Amino acid sequence: MTYLSTDKVENHFHDVVIIGSGGAGMRCALDLADAGHRVAIVTKVLPTRSHTVAAQGGINASLGNVDSDHWHWHMYDTVKGSDYLGDQDAIEYMCRAAPRIVRELEHQGVAFSRLEDGTIYQRPFGGQSLKFGEGGQASRTCAAADRTGHAILHSLYQQNLRAGTHFYQEFFALDLITDENGCHGVMAWDIANGTYHLFQAKAVILATGGAGRVFKVTTNAHICTGDGGALTLAAGLPMEDMEFFQFHPTGIADVGPLISEGVRGEGGYLLNSEGERFMERYAPTAKDLASRDVVSRAIALEIREGRGCGPNKDHALLKVDHLGEQLILERLPNIHELALRFAGVDCTKEPIPVQPTMHYTMGGTPTNRHTEVVYTDGDKQEKVFPGLFAIGEGACVSVHGANRLGGNSLLEIVVFGHACGVRVQEYLAAQHYHAPLDPDCWKTAVQRVERWFDSIQTGDKEGTRATSRVANVRARMQTIMQDHFSVYRTEDVMAEGVKAIEALVGDLRSACIDDACRVFNTDLVEALELENLMALARVTAAGAHARTESRGAHARDDYPERDDVNWQKHTLASIKDGKVKLDYKAVRTIPMTVDSFPPKKRVY
Ligand code: FUM
Repeated sequence: MTYLSTDKVENHFHDVVIIGSGGAGMRCALDLADAGHRVAIVTKVLPTRSHTVAAQGGINASLGNVDSDHWHWHMYDTVKGSDYLGDQDAIEYMCRAAPRIVRELEHQGVAFSRLEDGTIYQRPFGGQSLKFGEGGQASRTCAAADRTGHAILHSLYQQNLRAGTHFYQEFFALDLITDENGCHGVMAWDIANGTYHLFQAKAVILATGGAGRVFKVTTNAHICTGDGGALTLAAGLPMEDMEFFQFHPTGIADVGPLISEGVRGEGGYLLNSEGERFMERYAPTAKDLASRDVVSRAIALEIREGRGCGPNKDHALLKVDHLGEQLILERLPNIHELALRFAGVDCTKEPIPVQPTMHYTMGGTPTNRHTEVVYTDGDKQEKVFPGLFAIGEGACVSVHGANRLGGNSLLEIVVFGHACGVRVQEYLAAQHYHAPLDPDCWKTAVQRVERWFDSIQTGDKEGTRATSRVANVRARMQTIMQDHFSVYRTEDVMAEGVKAIEALVGDLRSACIDDACRVFNTDLVEALELENLMALARVTAAGAHARTESRGAHARDDYPERDDVNWQKHTLASIKDGKVKLDYKAVRTIPMTVDSFPPKKRVY
């Protein structure tokens, strides 16, 4: 054990520290705490405000409660949905584990909606099929009305309280403590009282969620700032496939909040300004339940060709009223409320204005199937970075590849949260002591924060206060990403975007905050979050610009086809000597026990 002898930093010792309190972190913590380990969750929010709480439509599992579903068909749909960029060993693992893990959630207290016979309610979602696409639409998404994430997160939180997990809430993770032997802890800032904390641990797990706030219009909460990804990059490790950001077809127009795919699962459908059900043209079989990239591109094309709705012809309409008030209020109550609040529309009577909205980060911290963080060294061998694990949306295991299927996100967090809990227990068996630390290991984190307090003076001196405020720099970053890396991408537009983002890195260095208070300084927290977002925007922009093909959510007008010969590979982007560096690694195309699904044309 190393006790730091500085009065600046408070020491904490745990077997495992998990950064992030969403479903992935909570599921993992539960395994470890139940096994008797001393587990801490370090989270920048109150645990039940983690973004899992916002997940609506449901969690996929081939329970077969309304059809004769099978995990192998779920696997096929997921590989196809990923546009053949998903790693098939991890996908097989996830789809096989799904029925067991969902039943387990039920036993942990998740209040799923019910079918007449008392079994878990399942609705159809996009990209789901029976019999490898030959047997029609599957109903695979297990739902608690349209508040499934809320139900799961609250149950897991309660289970963790029972199991004795330690919660450090409203703590912001600043820097991973790493050396040549791996990861040994994390430095954090206590937001509530402005103090520094060193959490030493035998294993550290990144479970910080997505980075949706890189974009201007998103379904993601303000907290989704890719904090784990930025910690990964700062530790000199790469991020994987960050060019793949999913646009959900039905965010509320202009403002972004999510209107669940569950609405189309229940029978809602999209209309253009001519009152046409246009998805019949783009996806004759699956129609409105084609996978998300397909539906988002269809809406974008309708708008581009002048068939958008509203005075600005900039959105589509989602028709729901024909489902009837009773069904809407029973199965889609949250949607009803969101449409009222954010669009001023009573969806039992009128359609909801919707447009594709950034929703999900497919890329993340690279891991193997066991959730261990991996990197590729000079001789191209993949290696495990000891003591560091990553799970959930912020990780790239990679089960979603280039495009995630709806309902697979909640599944991923619980399946790999559990897998991580199992793997970490094996790892801990050989870790008898906390590693000795460099006595200066806390300094990078402290400098990271103090630089912002110093900026209160320098921003004034330079007379650039208005433009160098964090909110201003953030708005410019979000606008660049929205305008240059959206649903459709081209060489010129992306090249300009890369330049603009790189120029903004200099502006961030001279950015400033206004609030000098150390207690609950949200100005400071937003500055730290912006640093994280900017690192991820840089690797996203570079990776997207380099990928000269269209695959899943990465759709290029100038390279409209998928190019499996040159591009069926994962991007690895790191920041070395202040510059973004790109590398690539092979997709794991060999599953564990079944034959692989080779790439073929993706039609719905
Ligand atoms: O549309 C939805 O309810 C979102 C689900 C998901 O992203 O998995």
